[in-house]
Amino acid sequence: MTNVKTPVDHLFSSKAYHILSDLVFQHSRIRLGPDKRALVANRLRKRLQTLELDSYEEYCAVLQSPHGAAEVEELVDLISTNHTRFYREPEHFTFLTRRVLPALAPELNAARAPLRLWSAAASSGEEPYTMAIAIAECLQAFPALKWQIFATDISRRMLATAAQGVYPMDAVKPVPPDLLKRYFQKGVGGRTGFCRVKPELRQRLQFERVNLFQAHYPVPAKMHVIFCRNVMIYFDHASRAEAVSRLAHHLTPGGYLVIGHSESLMGIRHGLHPVQHGVFQKT
Ligand SMILES: C[S@@+](CC[C@H](N)C(=O)[O-])C[C@H]1O[C@@H](n2cnc3c(N)ncnc32)[C@H](O)[C@@H]1O
Repeated sequence: MTNVKTPVDHLFSSKAYHILSDLVFQHSRIRLGPDKRALVANRLRKRLQTLELDSYEEYCAVLQSPHGAAEVEELVDLISTNHTRFYREPEHFTFLTRRVLPALAPELNAARAPLRLWSAAASSGEEPYTMAIAIAECLQAFPALKWQIFATDISRRMLATAAQGVYPMDAVKPVPPDLLKRYFQKGVGGRTGFCRVKPELRQRLQFERVNLFQAHYPVPAKMHVIFCRNVMIYFDHASRAEAVSRLAHHLTPGGYLVIGHSESLMGIRHGLHPVQHGVFQKT
């Protein structure tokens, strides 16, 4: 039997790993510690095969070449951890429907001003669609109130999935049955086992590739709510501080920044007022 060699069978040298993790850091601020070498090798194996490269040194040469920028984007996309689910950390959606919307909706409705929310690490869309369901349910009494959710992520692959809004039935298990019926269409024929977010909800979301560290955010300022959950755990302290300060700038006074339960703003000067676990308000 012939033994087909894959690139990881070759030595993933410290030098190559160093170059790769530096590039990932420079472009996303995702910090890859030395313990992540096997994980990185796993995530890149297929890519090296597709590019018909035999070693990570060759891959580094592609990344560092004059036309390497697109490949660096691909690298970051493959390295990023995209785990998410509908109704993850549900207290934040309850906060939205019980605290934020009842206070804001009448005011915005009277002023004929739009409600703007941002899911800044939206991954494959489960988070912004859960926000959309919560808002659609809550704003039935204000049919004229305009609202929009900006769903952004560094990963184009994830954003493409999010924009499709198609999920396996297993993934929508956390969605209460009545809401599943109201906001999703069940697939038939070749799409059995999947469901799709209904167009009226999908059109509330605007998708855009945004790196939290790019020079300018192509989304409106004066957001009422920003969810930036479960991404800052991948950043170092200085990067976290930078991201929080920039996101806080993008909030309207009185607006809220929501971070993941396992994340903390300890040691970061942000000027936001803590409201509840993972929720901060701009005063
Ligand atoms: C673990 S997911 C979190 C998804 C969702 N917010 C949640 O809590 O379920 C982290 C997401 O952050 C994105 N990400 C990582 N670095 C980023 C950066 N520098 N700018 C924007 N998004 C980034 C990843 O692509 C990934 O989709």
